[in-house]
Amino acid sequence: MAAETDNATAQAQAPLLQALQAQAQRSDAAFYTPGHKRGQGSPAALARLLGMAALRSDLPELPELDDLFAPSGPIAEAQALAAAAFGADRSWFLVNGSSCGMAAAMLAACDPGDKIVLPRNSHQSAISGAIASGAMPVFVEPACEPSAGLAAGVAPAAIDAALAHHPDARAVLVVRPTYQGFCNDLAAIADRVHRDGIPLLVDEAHGAHLAFHPELPQSALAAGADLVVQSSHKTLGALTQAAMLHCQGARIDTERIASALQLLQSSSPNYALLASLDAARQQMALEGHARMTQTLALAKRARDRIPHQAGLPVLGLTPSHRSGGASALDPTRLTVDVSPAGLSGFAADGLLRDRLGVTAECPLPHHLTFALSLGNAASDTDCLIRSLAILSEQFGCSQASAAFALGERPPSDLSRSPREAFFAPSQSLPLERAAGEVSAESVCPYPPGIPVLVPGEAIAPATVAYLQQLRRLGVRITGCRDPHLRALRVVRAP
Ligand SMILES: Cc1ncc(COP(=O)(O)O)c(C=O)c1O
Repeated sequence: MAAETDNATAQAQAPLLQALQAQAQRSDAAFYTPGHKRGQGSPAALARLLGMAALRSDLPELPELDDLFAPSGPIAEAQALAAAAFGADRSWFLVNGSSCGMAAAMLAACDPGDKIVLPRNSHQSAISGAIASGAMPVFVEPACEPSAGLAAGVAPAAIDAALAHHPDARAVLVVRPTYQGFCNDLAAIADRVHRDGIPLLVDEAHGAHLAFHPELPQSALAAGADLVVQSSHKTLGALTQAAMLHCQGARIDTERIASALQLLQSSSPNYALLASLDAARQQMALEGHARMTQTLALAKRARDRIPHQAGLPVLGLTPSHRSGGASALDPTRLTVDVSPAGLSGFAADGLLRDRLGVTAECPLPHHLTFALSLGNAASDTDCLIRSLAILSEQFGCSQASAAFALGERPPSDLSRSPREAFFAPSQSLPLERAAGEVSAESVCPYPPGIPVLVPGEAIAPATVAYLQQLRRLGVRITGCRDPHLRALRVVRAP
């Protein structure tokens, strides 16, 4: 009881935020970076946009502000408070998003050539991690909703099968929740992975809020994961790019995490990002339950009303998702099927944004995913419900949903490690002539940032057809040199 009270008192503090506030208020003849010197030399338009308070607090690693790579002051204190709040043994603050956390996780868990079991719907950052570390992915195909290609995640049985075939795997990585909020039975996966004495790494980029309400799916740390990466900026109140990496237990070499993070992050970390992590943790520790109660109520109201008022179904957890391995759905993600209105997700996204003042998180061929968080108000969800009703009534058409069907991406056939293919001599080929070759680059629709091709994968004719469809739909493509997908970079034959 006394320990709980001590923790509650400690969680009310925000040591890094307070240290930054103190330094921003201090008068100082600044002969250090950044060059704008506490905003004095900032471009006027930037000062108008951000305000002088923000610029005065844009400070470097002054002695009172600690050092991200050798923390012993307010950063160390803030990270320790974060570890306690999220249920970790140790936490690190990240200034380059979950992207650098994922790469650091793979560099820490794998030596070059080591196998890592990965779901094929992993985010691009896991592939970047494989390129940086030299790890060889053993891909597990996630179960998909057949009609729309929405991945429900990987089932414990699929991980079991992958480990049975690859007993020499050094780690397993799981993405949970998925972009749409699907959560698999992580406790069962953790049990299976730990039976082989190897660590379970979890990309919880979309789940930093899970620890703060019992009606949300269990958090990865609570389910027994060894290493968890969270984009605190995606679902909490931290600034964009601010993220955390958490560890528990002894299966991960924490010294190696620290070295990897130093390899991947700037030596001039932005203190607004770091302080925002401290503030977001404090907010969740003090008000997380109440904030999540409100967010859940808003999400429930929208989930109940959208089908009635707009005639559009909202994705729920069906028996087919359950048999595909999903055991829970984060209710704060609303994925609306817009195909009954005769619209593709991409068309609906444009209409909502341009005509109705609503912006979704992620368009898909048939769906739009809306991310609700502690920042949303009832006026936002009311606007969403109303706008979806208008979308159906005024902009809907009679086009059959089959018109937006995207064929299946064929299963992965990885003939070389992503690192080997990335560094191999390569050449550019027109997309139409790329079938039969090995990709030298990632091809990644964004959002959601799940690559269709990764370096080292054989390019099947069906993959070319799939990419042609994406090109026709005008989907934004990243990762590859030609974002218009006229050409692909392929490994040159020896
Ligand atoms: C599943 C997943 N993992 C990792 C990332 C990378 O996160 P960040 O944007 O914080 O670098 C993303 C980003 O969208 C993501 O969706």
